Amino acid sequence: MTFAYRNGVLCAEQVPLEDIVRRFGTPCYVYSSAAIENGYREFERALRGREALVCYSVKANSNLAVLALLARLGAGFDIVSGGELARVLAAGGAAGKTLFSGVGKSEAEIEIALSKGIACINLESEAELDRVDAIARRGGRRAPVAFRVNPDIDARTHPYISTGLRESKFGVAHDDAERLYARAAALPGVEVIGIGCHIGSLLAEAAPFVAAAQRLIALVDRLEAAGIVLKHVDFGGGIGIRYKDEAPQPIGTFVAGALAALGKRKQLAVFDPGRSVVGNAGVLVTRVEYLKPGASRNFVVVDAAMNDLIRPPLYGAWHDVQPVREAESGAPQRVYDVVGPVCESADFLAKDRRLAVRAGDLLAIMSTGAYGMAMSSNYNSRPRAAEVLVREDRAHLVRSRETVEQLFALERLPG
Ligand code: LLP
Repeated sequence: MTFAYRNGVLCAEQVPLEDIVRRFGTPCYVYSSAAIENGYREFERALRGREALVCYSVKANSNLAVLALLARLGAGFDIVSGGELARVLAAGGAAGKTLFSGVGKSEAEIEIALSKGIACINLESEAELDRVDAIARRGGRRAPVAFRVNPDIDARTHPYISTGLRESKFGVAHDDAERLYARAAALPGVEVIGIGCHIGSLLAEAAPFVAAAQRLIALVDRLEAAGIVLKHVDFGGGIGIRYKDEAPQPIGTFVAGALAALGKRKQLAVFDPGRSVVGNAGVLVTRVEYLKPGASRNFVVVDAAMNDLIRPPLYGAWHDVQPVREAESGAPQRVYDVVGPVCESADFLAKDRRLAVRAGDLLAIMSTGAYGMAMSSNYNSRPRAAEVLVREDRAHLVRSRETVEQLFALERLPG
């Protein structure tokens, strides 16, 4: 257990969250190195003995310290912007193990990715194929490319994070893939090296993931029959974690299903997980400012808000709320909504939670290692939270709390 109570106080590994708050304040994201490492190693174990690459999806948590930890473990990376590429390189990640996904890559982003020696550009449209071909030729290069193919499979997850259906903006249509590969194979500026898919995020069951893998492999075979031999198959990410009482199938089940679809074929198996590596490796620690009991609802007003963690309002996501000090205060138990100071009715972190809290108490919003800080904003001119990475009995500040001055440092009065 990387987040567990010791002597009545919630700890990250061996460090009490209270100590971290004393040093770095609230709100504060706290990550466990061991949990991140375990998440990554679970893929490694499932892939033992196979030619494979795990490309951590940087968008889930892009703190340099998290990326550096994964780079040291041997991870590759899945990026979606020039900004993420810069982070990977700054953290010691290898461009040659990095895949560049995303529907809207700019010319500048493609140029820099090629000049840094990106492993593969995952093309999401025919227009992008032409753009990459032109840029590579201009630079006297051949760009390594794959198509992200949309397998038209229902991931059975939240519609905002479902990406594999025909109506999705992502990837090229399955029915169009062979034509596009044939076109790409004839272009001098690109070298077709792979194929990929990603049907959505927070998948509880492996079945749709494996169905997508099978569709992809069928395509690999048809392409090979047409003389286009690929070097890798990217099965995507999207493996779910437990937030509440879900029981997602283990990483090994997803990986084994994809590997079975690949069979004895020679292609390198690639996975690009985000949440399943870091999601349960982080908590958001916040302090109770006020209790606000009411006629119809009771509120706990805390110092973290939707700008720190937007998943609850955006997706109706459920995050567990744990008291940092196990209830002993004798405070009355009530059912509360946990809300922040932002001026929006949608500013809630949790609803209908039975808590025994007083003003000044600390709460931990659990399972916020993925898509927490990464999706944070400065709405209401709120400086972003500090980030702390724990390893065993040591806590390292890996991102300072922003200052208000930093928020408007780029602004100017006219004239
Ligand atoms: N690969 C591709 C091409 C992706 O688009 C994504 C996520 C991943 C991998 C990683 O997916 P994961 O393993 O983390 O599920 N903000 C949402 C999730 C958005 C996911 C976007 N794409 C959330 O907080 O639930």
